[in-house]
Amino acid sequence: MTDPSPHIIETSLPGEMVGAAATRLRAGELVAFPTETVYGLGANACDGRAVARIFETKGRPSFNPLIVHVGGREVAERHVSFTSDAEKLVAAFWPGPLTLVLRAQSGTPISGLVTAGLETMAVRVPAHPLARDLLKAFGGPIAAPSANRSGRVSPTRAEHVQQEFGAAVPLVLDGGACEGGLESTIVDVSGKEPVLLRPGTISRDDLEAALGKPVVVAGAIEGEKPTAPGQLSSHYAPSIPVRLNADAAQDGEALLGFGAEMPKMQGFSFNLSPSGDLREAAANLFDALRKLDTPAVSGIAVMRIPADGIGEAINDRLQRAAAPRST
Ligand code: TXA
Ligand code: MG
Repeated sequence: MTDPSPHIIETSLPGEMVGAAATRLRAGELVAFPTETVYGLGANACDGRAVARIFETKGRPSFNPLIVHVGGREVAERHVSFTSDAEKLVAAFWPGPLTLVLRAQSGTPISGLVTAGLETMAVRVPAHPLARDLLKAFGGPIAAPSANRSGRVSPTRAEHVQQEFGAAVPLVLDGGACEGGLESTIVDVSGKEPVLLRPGTISRDDLEAALGKPVVVAGAIEGEKPTAPGQLSSHYAPSIPVRLNADAAQDGEALLGFGAEMPKMQGFSFNLSPSGDLREAAANLFDALRKLDTPAVSGIAVMRIPADGIGEAINDRLQRAAAPRST
């Protein structure tokens, strides 16, 4: 009997799997892989047809540009023009969970689909060993959004990617649970002032310390730079309603809590961090939202989570998970 499952999730021979994944990328196919933030759905960034498959597979609107993943800053510099702010952030945070938006170099071979026709490009150097091995084996830039269907909760485990796509994404490199759990911090450093487009585990304080100046939050100034086009108000959404700043669950609701004060309850509940550690809460957030997203409950009540440090990013994701849905 042959295995009926087309999925190849393998931890025992990572070297071989990485080689197979690189071969697929060269053939214009998609590969899911872990990063220190969330799992990505990768394609050869220079192959327009492969990149189009990402949009098709995710159901992602084509106006929403992708992040280009590269192995190091020298590679990034072939595709974007660095600024002095970029230099400082790269020195402090690469490789790591930081995406920089910079002006694209004219003549870059990266497909225009990746940037959705913008003059800027988002680039990042991931720190996860499997992501780095894959970039090395493939030898070129990899365009990769989070490996979830558009608008849904991002995947932090290989199983989540399988749940999202099944046989449509036959190769998922399994790196276990992602350490960070939230997507990378995105900063636009293409202009005079750095603008925070998406908060992440590298907090605004961390950025300001490295830059030695304040970072503007996108949308804070009327008429200023637009937020990341993908930051649609409803995003990261479970299939059931999400209610924020709850003290306790109401009838039929599951409870997503934080800290030692979480009320004990029967039924579905999850404490993001019993000790009140925001890093632990960030790493658990998307897995918890998936676990509580079950037909057995009518909605998810979420307790208040402090907004300082990484709490800014956690609250950003929760607000989008709770926002009115367009569909
Ligand atoms: O942690 C991460 O960043 C993960 C892993 C896989 O690297 N990737 C990820 O990609 O979160 P995605 O596609 O889910 O989110 C990328 C965000 C989108 O909101 C998109 O609009 C924004 O980056 N973006 C991409 N290029 C941009 C650009 N040139 N200007 C402004 N925003 C951009
Ligand atoms: Mg995403």
